[in-house]
Amino acid sequence: MSIDYSEKIPNNVDLVGNRKLQRALESWQPNFLNWWKTMGPAVPTENVYLRTAVAVGREGWAHFDHVPMDEYRWGVFLAERNTDRRIAFGEQKGEPVWQQVPGEYRADLQRLIVIQGDTEPASVEQQRRLGESAPSLYDLRNLFQVNVEEGRHLWAMVYLLHAYFGRAGREEAEALLQRNSGDIDSPRILGAFNEETPDWLSFYMFTYFTDRDGKYQLGTLKESAFDPLSRTCEFMLKEEAHHMFVGTTGVDRVVARTAELMREHDTDDIAPYGGIPLDVIQKYINFHYSVSLDLFGSERSTNAANYFTAGLKGRWQEERRKDDHVLTEDAAQIDVVRAGEITTDEVSALLALNHDLRREYIADCETGLKRWNRVLEKGGIERRLHLPHVGFNRHVGVFGGHHITPKGDLVGEDVWAANQDKWLPSEADKTHVRSLMRPVYEPGKIAGWIAPPSKGINDKPVDYEYVHFP
Ligand SMILES: [Fe+2]
Ligand SMILES: [Fe+2]
Repeated sequence: MSIDYSEKIPNNVDLVGNRKLQRALESWQPNFLNWWKTMGPAVPTENVYLRTAVAVGREGWAHFDHVPMDEYRWGVFLAERNTDRRIAFGEQKGEPVWQQVPGEYRADLQRLIVIQGDTEPASVEQQRRLGESAPSLYDLRNLFQVNVEEGRHLWAMVYLLHAYFGRAGREEAEALLQRNSGDIDSPRILGAFNEETPDWLSFYMFTYFTDRDGKYQLGTLKESAFDPLSRTCEFMLKEEAHHMFVGTTGVDRVVARTAELMREHDTDDIAPYGGIPLDVIQKYINFHYSVSLDLFGSERSTNAANYFTAGLKGRWQEERRKDDHVLTEDAAQIDVVRAGEITTDEVSALLALNHDLRREYIADCETGLKRWNRVLEKGGIERRLHLPHVGFNRHVGVFGGHHITPKGDLVGEDVWAANQDKWLPSEADKTHVRSLMRPVYEPGKIAGWIAPPSKGINDKPVDYEYVHFP
């Protein structure tokens, strides 16, 4: 079904055919717009060169144009339905997928959708003020693109809550606008989404590491036996790819500029020359990677096992796995800390599903490090960037409550306290990075701490006027 843009809420889920649902979503819409006005991008713009989804198919789903941001057409888009789709895993494997929520899984499914939904507006809130210090119009446009799409992902989750979870779902949809990132009384559900994104290096790290966690979580929900959730996540994943592109290439460009300044001035200490030292980039990687790992939950999880067995949440690329997809007979290794040592335990594969997903995520993160190290190599710099040990700076799971160095050594409180500023961004690092954040809004111009992008958006030149101001 194609997307109907003549409707108040653009959609491909036949909202006109369900008056009650349409009215419910139309009554949520003003609250969403009010949230966008008060918690969305703070910098005033006239219009922004944005892509809008026009179809959900493989080809040509996006349309690009300059649009006023608060007139962006947020809507409800699900990937096409595959009428033959069957449950790929768990105890109901092989049965047809569900078009309605089975009563016994109602609470669990609602919870999974609420947790996913809560992260979407949270990142918009975290990034609210970044527009005031964008390094170029190209970057400003990318920030806003990410923001409007996270807004749409909220719509996607709210649609599911309204359409399938009755009154309780509608109440949860309201609550998604009432919690706010970093709010003392009513924070967002997950820790990483209450951290601020105070500068553009943090933004690139967030879109690289934290949006990538989102990719893996959506990947597991895309496998869900609850078909509307699966189709929703499938389409969200297409939009997420651009968010991670922003992160990957953003860090590429920071590293490239850092290498350039290091060579030019023949020193590691490029802060006085308006650059971000490699050490500081490493510390930002350490921080954002470790808080994103916390989002995978405990290594050993009975919830994850139950969700899998019930068919609610699968593994990353479930259908490509070469096993029985039931896992009752399989074992897996998980990390544990025992008697002052980091070692592993064998547990049922079902209990190790968070660990399994985290492993896929880590392998994916490594590709960015390889890429950034190639940039260093090409720039004639010998030093390299690394992912810290999986136990470094963790607050969730087996490593929480232990101090582990980036190299993976268990250390005491004293060693940790004495070295923390070497491993994580110190106040001085953050102050320096923040001092570099000044807006560059002239088309084709770029801030001094970052290299220009290699190409523009949608075949437009880099110096295109991506954003117009009032
Ligand atoms: Fe998202
Ligand atoms: Fe995202």
